[in-house]
Amino acid sequence: STSDGSDHYQITQREARAEILPGVTTPLWTYEGSFPGPTIESRRGRPVTVTHRNELPVPTVVHLHGGRTPAASDGYPTDLVLPEGWPDATTPPGHEAGHGSGHGAPHVMHDPRAVVTRLTRDYTFPLDQRATMLWYHDHRMDFTAPALWRGLAGLHIVRDDAEDALGLPAGPRELPIMITDRAFAADGSLAYPSLDPTLRERPGVHEPYLAGVLGDVILVNGAPWPVHETDAARYRLRLLNASNARHYELEAVTDDGRRLDLVQIGADQGLLAAPVPHRLLPLAPAERYDVIIDFSGVPIGGRVRLLNRLGEGRTREVMAFRIARRAGDDSTIPRTLATDLPAWRRTDAVRVRDFSFRAGQLHDGRGWLIGGLPFDPARSDVTTRLGDVEVWRLIADVHHPVHLHLVGFQVLSRSGRPPLPHDAGLKDTVSLRPGEAVEIITRFDGYRGRYLFHCHNAEHEDMAMMANLEIT
Ligand code: C2O
Ligand code: CU
Ligand code: CU
Repeated sequence: STSDGSDHYQITQREARAEILPGVTTPLWTYEGSFPGPTIESRRGRPVTVTHRNELPVPTVVHLHGGRTPAASDGYPTDLVLPEGWPDATTPPGHEAGHGSGHGAPHVMHDPRAVVTRLTRDYTFPLDQRATMLWYHDHRMDFTAPALWRGLAGLHIVRDDAEDALGLPAGPRELPIMITDRAFAADGSLAYPSLDPTLRERPGVHEPYLAGVLGDVILVNGAPWPVHETDAARYRLRLLNASNARHYELEAVTDDGRRLDLVQIGADQGLLAAPVPHRLLPLAPAERYDVIIDFSGVPIGGRVRLLNRLGEGRTREVMAFRIARRAGDDSTIPRTLATDLPAWRRTDAVRVRDFSFRAGQLHDGRGWLIGGLPFDPARSDVTTRLGDVEVWRLIADVHHPVHLHLVGFQVLSRSGRPPLPHDAGLKDTVSLRPGEAVEIITRFDGYRGRYLFHCHNAEHEDMAMMANLEIT
């Protein structure tokens, strides 16, 4: 903290090893030596500067997902921070050992707007936005998926007075839960298709990643299938699916087979107007759900397992809670949570845009396209005026979690039907289901500049499913 009303952090990106699986160590790429990286906590409206220092062997760029951030600090995928010995920003990806899912990155050489630095960069976040749980992660063009996989992700929680006053479960009864899946080799190292150099030489190189890369070990905050000891009381679970490509459908099940409610109080962009109870909560990559679970009816010594209905075998298990002791509980779930949600109506929209999210041909293999085009930093895709309200219709072939930078949005409809219960509130990532057409509405406010929207299946993103969003 500094006296000028802003907070300052320094994060070194470096290689580290961690004992994730018992008896072996896993080489990782980390923020500050740990996976997940350090959790940053901020107050709404209090600016934060994070100085990132890149001591990794590859260029990096940091994006604060869900942040209302000026474009210069938003982590545009060509705004690279080069490590000390890296020749220059246009070094072809072939120089890099162990990469792989990228579609070639020739455009990095031709992006005149890229702001490239060496070794360090200051990212400034005004955080003039609703209280919520954000996350920061690498966003390098064509290489986001392998960087995420190796560990470049962390949480950033924004709080405000209105939320503090609600009396939600807090302190040790508020649990950030970052869910990821990973695959491991016998020696403990992470297994990723791109780590096999022979794959790069073959035609159709994208095929091993095309659908997205899955792991068979579920990690919660970097630990496999943890068991967390709790009181018999209400807990606030701040869920994030930080997996590259895996979707979850979570349910909380007691030893005797009862399903506990997951009472949703918040979405990606903060509190809902009113709580929404779920028995089953879908969680697409990059989505966050803020939920309350009540352990007070569970016998002491009993367990509640968080299960993934979409998993098979050991990917059905996510984590467990062991109810260790009886305890008082003065938390509440107010019937009104927030009154500041935007009330955009269809008639407010000054334009409607359509985007398809489909597989297609890249210059060197198959990949993923938005509106029939692969990502190109030099092309203008969407230009809109600051303050404009727009409706976007997003149409999918297969499952695509679509994310917009800078703004939150509301889901208007799914294939002509009303939104689903978990679509409530203000979101920044929406899960398009196979064959679905989803309408969203938003107002492009905050800052002018060059932003992005993209699929947050990290392999799809690297295989070109990304587009420019220019606010003028
Ligand atoms: Cu979480 Cu553009 O990313
Ligand atoms: Cu983002
Ligand atoms: Cu996708």
